[in-house]
Amino acid sequence: MGYLLGLDIGTSQVKALLITVEGEIVGSASQEYPLYSPRPGWTEQNPEDMWQGTITALRKVLDKYDVDPADIKGVGLSGQMHSSVFLDKEGNVIRPAILWNDSRTTKQCYEIESLVGKELLLQEACNPALEGFTAPKVLWLREHEPENFAKLRWLVLVKDYIRYRLTGELKMELSDAAGTLLLNVKEQRWSDVIMKKLALPMEILPELVGSSEVAGYITPEAAELTGLAVNTPVVGGGADNACGAVGAGIVSAGRAMISLGTSGVMLAHLDVPKLPNGGTIHMFNHAVKDRFYMMGVILSAGLSFGWFRDQLGQMEKALAGGMGTDPYTLLTKAAAQSSPGSKGLIFLPYLTGERTPHGDGNARGGFFGLSASHERRDMVRAILEGVGFAFRDSFCLLQQAGWTGDSVRCIGGGAKSDLWLEILASILGLQMQTLNVDEGPGVGAALLAGVGVGVFTDPKEASEAILKVTKTIDPNPEWHGIYQDVYQVYKSLYPALKPMYDQMAKLF
Ligand code: XUL
Repeated sequence: MGYLLGLDIGTSQVKALLITVEGEIVGSASQEYPLYSPRPGWTEQNPEDMWQGTITALRKVLDKYDVDPADIKGVGLSGQMHSSVFLDKEGNVIRPAILWNDSRTTKQCYEIESLVGKELLLQEACNPALEGFTAPKVLWLREHEPENFAKLRWLVLVKDYIRYRLTGELKMELSDAAGTLLLNVKEQRWSDVIMKKLALPMEILPELVGSSEVAGYITPEAAELTGLAVNTPVVGGGADNACGAVGAGIVSAGRAMISLGTSGVMLAHLDVPKLPNGGTIHMFNHAVKDRFYMMGVILSAGLSFGWFRDQLGQMEKALAGGMGTDPYTLLTKAAAQSSPGSKGLIFLPYLTGERTPHGDGNARGGFFGLSASHERRDMVRAILEGVGFAFRDSFCLLQQAGWTGDSVRCIGGGAKSDLWLEILASILGLQMQTLNVDEGPGVGAALLAGVGVGVFTDPKEASEAILKVTKTIDPNPEWHGIYQDVYQVYKSLYPALKPMYDQMAKLF
């Protein structure tokens, strides 16, 4: 028997997923860890929590499926993008990681634009300076915590840090390096010109490694802690969206996906690099060698629904266990009782600012059009629809950049809801497809491990070996008509509210 193991270091949990070398999913185990928000707009996590979570998830998965660790042929890692882990010269963590959805770095983004120049930044990094990316976090550290900056020897991302703990090798994988804003994306090398303009030392950047390249081997110490076998090969892996794309078969031109997790992502494969609409949507290196992708990112997609569940879904939380279901299913059932357009209620999903299309850390969420006749179910439906309208913003930009498909593959927790998929299909006017495998990033990471150890030739062969479309959901024509009109109102809300967002940011 032979297995491949994918580890996905997410924002709420780490998941360890096993597939056989024939490409069959065996199963997964996960372990949650805390997220801290010491101030509004700040999000942080402790890399040590992620490492302890990884140990637990690995032990759980090996135990649950009674796997002989010697049968695991390779390990791949996927992880939340951009989130910075700062290490000192001994490889110790200096301070908590600053995450992809942290919006404290607006000032540093302006600084990067003026120090590097917008034009040069686009030429080199192929993306503008946005709060979530890694480079502004390094500048923030230099300005606000000079004592920590003085200790900084290595800058890594979360999955690269976990790989370091597993193998003792400190490297950064290419598709994730693209999200730092410090990489020359087209030439696939660190950008010495950006580093120079930002007055940052090149030596904080680790050696680059390819997604399916073997980056190291499990050390005796990591083997003792995790239960994995000493010397198991570990590949570079990829950014969670790049791995998600591999795990959903978005590995050739024309293919696109929607990922409905904490963040919402609409992503399309690119054979050659391009600058979509002058950088209004992201363009990064794919986990498929020498390929790229463009994507729009909604910072609070599943997070908006999760916020509602936690703050206003106490009843569903209390009832779900006894009914053998989960609170999201109960809330979604309630939303199905409302009607398209949520009786005139619009939700703006900017709970942690917004990335695409506004690039605005000050933007905030809200309900527009609330009346005395609205019920909780209308609010839930408005959240599902508001996220859908945010996807439409990204979809329009992908279309402008030349994407012409008529269907997208959907992955992530939200893709389990038929109602949410029908809403998305109807807002976007696209067919939604679900797959036999919806744990995209973990599967993608395992497949990349398979490529690295010679089980598969390339990610395309690997994903085609295991993926099947299991369900298609077409736009509902009646809903589509309603959503066309409501989207026009949704679209006009952000520009109207922008001055008030900035005023409020000064107050709180
Ligand atoms: C992408 C992004 C998010 C995270 C989520 O740019 O910031 O999708 O990768 O983990």
